[in-house]
Amino acid sequence: MRGRTVRASAPGKLIVLGEHSVVFGKPALALAIDRRFGCEISPGSGVLLNGVGVSLRLHPHIDSILRRREISDIRIITDSEIPSGSGLGSSAALSAALISAVRLMMREECREEAVALEAFETEYEVQGRASPIDTSTSVHGGGVAVNCPESIGTPIWNISKGGNSWTVSDIPVPKMTFVVGYTGIKAATGPLVQKVRKYKESNRFASDIIDEIGDVTLSGMSAISRNDKQNLGELMTRDHKLLSILGVSCKELNKLVDASLEHSYGAKLTGSGGGGSMIALTDEPEKVCRAIALRGGEPFIVRTGVPGISAEFAEL
Ligand code: PMV
Repeated sequence: MRGRTVRASAPGKLIVLGEHSVVFGKPALALAIDRRFGCEISPGSGVLLNGVGVSLRLHPHIDSILRRREISDIRIITDSEIPSGSGLGSSAALSAALISAVRLMMREECREEAVALEAFETEYEVQGRASPIDTSTSVHGGGVAVNCPESIGTPIWNISKGGNSWTVSDIPVPKMTFVVGYTGIKAATGPLVQKVRKYKESNRFASDIIDEIGDVTLSGMSAISRNDKQNLGELMTRDHKLLSILGVSCKELNKLVDASLEHSYGAKLTGSGGGGSMIALTDEPEKVCRAIALRGGEPFIVRTGVPGISAEFAEL
């Protein structure tokens, strides 16, 4: 490690459509949100995380990034606005920010594509299987679609792994208001991704549901490009039903989705599910926030159209 301190950050994201099915090469659509993961790194003695020497087995993303470069002396200070296990891409944002910081510190390639590829490899290694939707959205910011029709987005990079390939595209983001409802239940992504894989391998019906999520997502991409909130909302609610059939929702998520529907175009779980968060597309965010809070969820209105990674040497 060279001297000096690097500060980096990356945004969380919400998946509008296509989580889980995207792991099998289907399309997906995600937006970066105004909640960020920040980190500061500097040379140290041993690995110190927020001032404490920790076992990196408890922090597999950090472990993977440091091991790849045989870094054993580093101070990392983190600062996150994204609750872990919330379905809002905390681990992807951590990977994107830390990789950006380490690459800048070590004078490695810092272009978005290089960071996105490494962040994807990190997620894949930790989760056992992954798609690039979270990591690419966190790196690039704004709106990101995977495997979308050419008419909808501008391709920015391609990623292939495990027999699947994903073309990642930048998409224009119309002004839309989303409310997030966090259940307060932390759910790790890896086990849910494995659950869907096992279900798919053992049940033909699961493959049909995954195909159907792919179709709903393609229709949703077309709806967002027309700024058709009504249609997009209906497709989100339909996607939630399909994800429930796949077994990745839970009663707390269903309760918050149900409560939001009265004042929104549509609502669904976002991210891996099993807890974590749901989102609602709405023109009445305060009413949706109240409905979510009344059912025990933690609501917040998110701003989209935000930038991706940033990394710079700190002036101390
Ligand atoms: O819950 P999150 O933010 O980790 O989102 C996971 C999205 C999945 O499609 C379930 C997994 C993936 O790698 O795409």
